Amino acid sequence: MSLKNKKILIVVGGGISAYKSLDLIRLLKKNNVDVKTILTKSGKEFVTPLSITTLTKNRTFEDIFDKNGEAEIDHIALSRWADLIIVLPTTANFMTKLSIGKAEDLATTVLLASNKDILLVPAMNVRMWLHKATQRNIKTLQDFGYHFIGPEKGEMACGEYGEGKMSSPRQIYTYLKNYFDNKNLVKNKNFKALVTSGPTREYLDPIRYISNESSGKQGYEIALALKRLGIKTKLITGPSNLVFSKDLIIKKIISAKEMLSEVKKSLPVDIAVCAAAVSDFKPINKSKNKIKKNYTNIDNLSLEKNPDILDYLSKNNKYRPKIVIGFSAETENVIKNSKIKIKEKYCDLIVANDVSKKDTGLNSEYNKVSIIDKKGKIKSIPKNKKSYIANTIAKIILDKLLINDKNIN
Ligand code: C5P
Repeated sequence: MSLKNKKILIVVGGGISAYKSLDLIRLLKKNNVDVKTILTKSGKEFVTPLSITTLTKNRTFEDIFDKNGEAEIDHIALSRWADLIIVLPTTANFMTKLSIGKAEDLATTVLLASNKDILLVPAMNVRMWLHKATQRNIKTLQDFGYHFIGPEKGEMACGEYGEGKMSSPRQIYTYLKNYFDNKNLVKNKNFKALVTSGPTREYLDPIRYISNESSGKQGYEIALALKRLGIKTKLITGPSNLVFSKDLIIKKIISAKEMLSEVKKSLPVDIAVCAAAVSDFKPINKSKNKIKKNYTNIDNLSLEKNPDILDYLSKNNKYRPKIVIGFSAETENVIKNSKIKIKEKYCDLIVANDVSKKDTGLNSEYNKVSIIDKKGKIKSIPKNKKSYIANTIAKIILDKLLINDKNIN
């Protein structure tokens, strides 16, 4: 049983649905999950420490400056203890605090100090949920890597109807089971991924080169998202100003030729995501010295085609990754051209983006993409932070990989 012996820390928030935390605890305990709880001040208005302790067989943690508590387990240790943290219910106010990184009490401090996945379970009035402030907070929190379940549509405690109703303890329990099942599966399978990102530089002389505006952000975020899912990931990136996380294996290259050589060294892998904006052409000859203004042989600055790395991977007889994903940056006929590309380049998915707009795509924090599969089915992701787009792509990759694996075995 995948949940057996897992350690879950539940932050009980201040909303009428807090009483449902007791049902969830009961379900978890029945399945041998070790549960600890932080009872927030407003959560305590709805459930008592005694009812929680009776079910968890553990005391509730309440105050940041709790002398007894700190001696036994401090706010850092609490988050390190857990395999996963859940905030139930997550109120609109609590989301605001998380979105600005507040650490004003035990719950917010533990969450800010956490190195674990955090699942938010929102519950609030429909107007509060739909308010622009809350919707903006959701985007920020998704960007920070928080996970969400719900809210559902339904009748609320206040009598109004709409989106804002907390997911049921059963739904949360099923979510948790799938979450740990996938984690275990990924861990046992030892999946490996490589991601290419950023531009390449093709030098004409020692200081001049052909390149493009790519920042490397989308590829970097995808590599991070895959890593977070437990997949061993290597990022092969062209020149970029990003500050890379030390959690990733990173190989920095300059030219397409170097990128290809690094890709070859990284095989075999299960997943290849080619997000790099590789220069299609390179100068046939690189001048040893800086080309002078009075250079008369301009016609001799001829170009040749670079190797196509995506093509190399997807048509590789020996080491074709199970899933190959290409990117398609287009300024016109985005979907039509991308559908042609997925066929020509033999990839499993293509992520199409319109790079004619300056507010998304190359060198922007944001992106707006359409993910197209081999059958031409399209999943569009509206404008959002590149980290959000990356998490969505990573989840699609994992689902595809797990389905592939089930079909093979
Ligand atoms: O054909 P086009 O360059 O538009 O295809 C884009 C896709 O191909 C991207 O996934 C990009 O990373 C990949 N590509 C590559 N090597 C090249 C050119 C493009 O891997 N030389």
